[in-house]
Amino acid sequence: MSDPLRLGIAGLGTVGAGVVKIVRQKAALLEARTGRRIAISAVSARNRDKDRGVPLSSYAWEDDPVTLATRDDVDVFVELVGGSDGPAKAAVEAALKAGKDVVTANKALLAHHGQALAELAEANGCVLRFEAAVAGGIPVIKALTEGLAANEITRVMGVMNGTCNYILTRMENGGLSYDEAFAEADALGYLEADPELDVGGIDAGHKLSLLSAIAYGTQVAFDAVELEGIGRVSIEDIRQAADMGYKIKLLGVCRMSGRGLEQSMSPCLVPATSPLGQLEGGTNMVVIEGDQVGQIVLRGAGAGEGPTASAVMGDIMDIARGIRVTTFGAPASQLVASTPAKAATPAPYYLRFALADKPGALAKVASALGEAGVSIHRMRQYDHAADAAPVLIVTHKTTRAALDAALAAMPATGVVDDTPVALRIEQV
Ligand code: HSE
Repeated sequence: MSDPLRLGIAGLGTVGAGVVKIVRQKAALLEARTGRRIAISAVSARNRDKDRGVPLSSYAWEDDPVTLATRDDVDVFVELVGGSDGPAKAAVEAALKAGKDVVTANKALLAHHGQALAELAEANGCVLRFEAAVAGGIPVIKALTEGLAANEITRVMGVMNGTCNYILTRMENGGLSYDEAFAEADALGYLEADPELDVGGIDAGHKLSLLSAIAYGTQVAFDAVELEGIGRVSIEDIRQAADMGYKIKLLGVCRMSGRGLEQSMSPCLVPATSPLGQLEGGTNMVVIEGDQVGQIVLRGAGAGEGPTASAVMGDIMDIARGIRVTTFGAPASQLVASTPAKAATPAPYYLRFALADKPGALAKVASALGEAGVSIHRMRQYDHAADAAPVLIVTHKTTRAALDAALAAMPATGVVDDTPVALRIEQV
């Protein structure tokens, strides 16, 4: 009988409590599947007295996660504290330096420090695993790192923030304004403590940057993700997009082209009939395209106690089985610094703006687009008010740079109110 695998768990929020429950309630199953008993030596959290719905008295308590991470009776440090710096980073670094394997759900930490931490892990002969950091219960890290390892990845797309997808779904299905749907998500407790992490696309951008690193063998480059949140998406755009057969999703896309690595997290139109278009509520979806496998679609819960704890346990059980995979699917020293390519792949765009209702106005807009090399595919003017009317334009494929040049020229036409809404149409 081999020795138990001993855990030190820092962070006893929803996910931490979920992990403790699985270790306690499914001990026989875990041992049967890994051939090793999984035990908890010690735990740590900010508040010792809080009732977490699970007995903790049989575990040693540490106030300081760094002390927990380096205890002699801890083989695997499980970091569920969160945050890109501070105690989470200090404790993970301390654990790796002390030769402990690390399992974390912390996307922000890895998005900002993934390369340095992967190097530190390998220098110390440790593994650093993070399945729960991306798309909750969906085993997408394992899929990309292991199951699809023989593929050249042509594109990864993902709806990876359930809160945003919930808000957009409620706007579409419930006819709510953005503010109403946001308030509903808030009341349901979906929003992060800093809601901008969700609605600003930052949380989903963190996740995308981790997938890009694995998919393309590059160093994590969160700063190079082109980020746009959902705050400017209006019910009007959702309705117009639906009328044309599209849904609006906060969509992450990464792909490598001759120009470099493209990573964007922004509201996009996707065909309503596609798997991404049909994704409703707080669910996540990741679509991976590989040269051998073709397209695969992974769908499931992106957050919550059970799904996220399930992902954490998958990593812990790999370690118990003796499976030792590099952090980003290749030795950290071989991950290359990527050249960021800003939305270089041409795509059609959806544009909406209010146009003055007077002779020659449309011609001026068409001319601004034409001079920037942007060709119009479809156009509609509707709901004429007294002196202005909304105009919808779907362009032919164009680069974002050409489109931005056209949009920059719009104010000078004197016929367009406000900044036009411009959303990419992703072909999926
Ligand atoms: N706040 C995230 C979401 C879950 O709404 O999907 C944690 O990353």
